[in-house]
Amino acid sequence: MEFADVVRRRRMVRNYLPDPVPTEVIDRILDTARRGPSAGFTQGQTFVVVTDPTRRRAIAQLAGEDDYVSAGFDPWISRAPVHVVICTSEEAYHRRYREPDKLGPDGEIEWPVPYWWVDAGAALMLVLLAAVDEGLAAGFLGVHAVPGLKRLLGIPEEWAPIGVVTLGYPAPDRRSGSLARGRRPWAETVRRETWSGPQAEGDEHQTDRTDDEHPGQHQGEGTPEA
Ligand SMILES: Cc1cc2nc3c(=O)[nH]c(=O)nc-3n(C[C@H](O)[C@H](O)[C@H](O)COP(=O)(O)O)c2cc1C
Repeated sequence: MEFADVVRRRRMVRNYLPDPVPTEVIDRILDTARRGPSAGFTQGQTFVVVTDPTRRRAIAQLAGEDDYVSAGFDPWISRAPVHVVICTSEEAYHRRYREPDKLGPDGEIEWPVPYWWVDAGAALMLVLLAAVDEGLAAGFLGVHAVPGLKRLLGIPEEWAPIGVVTLGYPAPDRRSGSLARGRRPWAETVRRETWSGPQAEGDEHQTDRTDDEHPGQHQGEGTPEA
């Protein structure tokens, strides 16, 4: 599939067929995910793959699946045949940046932003895009019950789960009410040379260029997490 098609086809899917995903497909997705960029090549992300139905149900409970169902969504979290819990380690970055090639005269760098979250986001994006490339659908949800999730999966203290990616073959789903916000206009999102630089010819026509991915299915209003 062309890269542009992969990107355009990606959307958060909140319902799945029960069909299992072959292990080699899951492994190809994770092999793509581990090729993401990372500060100092720290590679401070670990992926916990969960397919066991009881464990998936427990994750869904922790993630508030009942609230989604009350709001009219399918039980999409437990139904997804694969969960990938993406974990990141701040400590791994501190360790890496205390190595000789990264140490400055004043010791460890002042972190301009927390690179461990940046890299986890890059890894998340790769999982989502690789899933589409494999003909699968994917979703992502934050799990607020972090201690419970860590206990359930035996995630060591230094690792922080950033959320759960659901993977599987897509079933018809209810879409997020958040999509009713529409995509931010091009001219607000893309700035040229400086924040307040002049618009280029045609910028005003770019506004609607990418607004065709979510045609007319803005349901699920009032579900804050979606
Ligand atoms: C950091 C992050 C957290 C999100 N958390 C949730 C969530 O908890 N539940 C959910 O249903 N969707 C969640 N989403 C999905 C967004 O609602 C979705 O990406 C957005 O509405 C745009 O839709 P699209 O991804 O289908 O284009 C999250 C997305 C991101 C990037």
